[in-house]
Formats: sequence, structure tokens, C-alpha cells
Amino acid sequence: MTPSAEDVLQNTANIAVLGVGAVGQLICHQLTAKAAKVLLLTRDVSGPQTLTCQPLMDASATSCVPDSVTHQYPSLITTNLTAEHLAHIRLLIVTTKAYQVVALLTPLLAKLRADCHILLLHNGMGPHLALSVLLAQHPAMGLSLGTTSQGAMRLSQWQIKHTGTGLTQLGHGFGAVINDNYRALLLDAIPDSHWQDDIITSLWQKLAINCAINPLTAIHQCQNGALAAPQHQDTISQLLLELIPVAKAQGVKLELDNLLEKVNQVIHLTAQNYSSMYQDITHHRPTEIAQINGYVSQCAQEYGLKTPLHHAILASIKSLEAQD
Ligand code: PAF
Repeated sequence: MTPSAEDVLQNTANIAVLGVGAVGQLICHQLTAKAAKVLLLTRDVSGPQTLTCQPLMDASATSCVPDSVTHQYPSLITTNLTAEHLAHIRLLIVTTKAYQVVALLTPLLAKLRADCHILLLHNGMGPHLALSVLLAQHPAMGLSLGTTSQGAMRLSQWQIKHTGTGLTQLGHGFGAVINDNYRALLLDAIPDSHWQDDIITSLWQKLAINCAINPLTAIHQCQNGALAAPQHQDTISQLLLELIPVAKAQGVKLELDNLLEKVNQVIHLTAQNYSSMYQDITHHRPTEIAQINGYVSQCAQEYGLKTPLHHAILASIKSLEAQD
């Protein structure tokens, strides 16, 4: 029997994850491993969900696949959520696609508790600008921003494989600051996670990584690791060279050598991973190109700067999206 929303909430803690794709599920597993109770907010289901994660293979154990970990989560359907349902949620972690963030959060804001804290953890940039305007109506709420380079892929709807380690950076966005206990929990639960005073610079660095890896893997239909080849390295350098002046126009100082090192580190750490954009194109889903290379192109236009390669890549991915 499907439990009622009240049954679900009685059993629930006050952390919810909105957007339970591969990264969202991975964060659920990582928080649950630290005994946190997590509620899934999803459009797809009404009952508790059993999520399974195949952990990262230990570098020394090349031949055997590690045992999967399974947890059960209460879940609520986003479209039916009332203020009563949401009254328990103190920390809402948003791991949806970048282009869904504003549309999904806008109707929720008025229903969430007045002091709910929101953490955005998606690829690309842009939604935080729209949210800064919307949150002006909710003075007790706060927004933290984050970015993760952990690799994860879905094996089936509720089954994921953790495919790569990687840095996770979190920091204060605006409004009320995150409660110390939640901040400590997140840093404890997510491996290689750090609190950054200047999170906007970290987001630009991650944007640079996504601008290089995501569209190139989608266009060339390859795993992240294939981008280590010399012919791709030239394109990556060119993309970064175009991006640096745009970030500078926004007051963010980035350097080519440092960015190239970061991109190649992620290529190496997630070599076996198929990027999220590769997966979106393969499964005929919309991509986050507008919030990745599209964000760079749009900012460049505002500052009168030229980013022809980002522009060309944006067009290539849009045409791949249009093919069905
Ligand atoms: O979007 C992705 O796939 C990921 O952000 C990353 C870090 C590029 C790994 O595949």
C-alpha cells in the first residue's frame, strides 16, 4: 500500500533533495551514510523509493565490483506539496538540471518554511541570479551555492554507479547563512568537499570545466578520458582563452594554466565517465548547454566580448538536441 504523505513525513528528517538524477541520488546516499534522513522530492513517484548505489571501485581492487548499497527513502510528489508537507524541511538541496531550477523552485518558495535554507548544486550558471530576485520576498531564507565534480551515472531509474571522485565546493550565496550543523554534515558526508569563501570564483572554474568536457564529449560521443588526446587539448585551450576575459568582466580572475590543469584533472579522475551532456544527447533529453557555453556567450555579449568557439559549440549542441 502506498503510504500517505503524512506517513511519509512522520518518518522524515528535515533535509530534502529536489532532482534525483545521478548526482542527486549520490548525495542522498552520501548523507544517509552519515545517518541523515533524507526526503526525495520528485515528480515521478508517490511511495518510498529504494535507491541503490554501486560504490566507486577501489583503485587497488581492479577485478571485483564492490557491493552495492541500498537505502529506502520517503518521497513526495513535487506538484502536490502543501505548506504542511514542507514544514519539516530546513535544508533543501537542489540537484535538478540547471534549466529546471527556477521553474521548480518558484511555486515551492511560498510553501517552504520561512527559514528554509536552499543549496543549489547543479551544473552551469545563471539560476542563482533569478533566485536572488525571488528570494528578496523571503528575508529569512538563505541560499548556498555549490558545485561538484563527482561522477555518477544511472544504471536504471533508482540505481546509480559512482563513477568518479572529484572536488565539491560549497559556499554562501546570499540571504541567511546555512546552519552550522548542516554545513558540517554536508562537508562530512560528501568526500573531498570544502567550504569556499569565494564560491563565485569556484563556480566559474567549474563552469570552465563543464564548457570544455560536456559539449566535446557529446559532440565526439566519447568518455571524459578521451579528451586527454592532443587534438581535443587545443580546442579546450581555445575555449578557456575565450572564457577568461568574460569571467574577468564579472570581477573573477582566472588563469589559463590553472584552468587547464583543473580540466585535465577532472578528465583524469572521471575518465570512465560519460558526461551528463553526453548522456542527455544519447537519451534525447534537453541539455544544459544554455547554462554552460550559452551562459558564457550571453555574458560575453553583455560586455561586448567575442566568444566564437563557445557560440559555435552552442549551435552544434542545439542541432544535436533537435535531431530525434
Ligand atoms: O556534467 C558532468 O558530467 C560533470 O560535471 C563532470 C564533472 C564533467 C564529469 O562528467
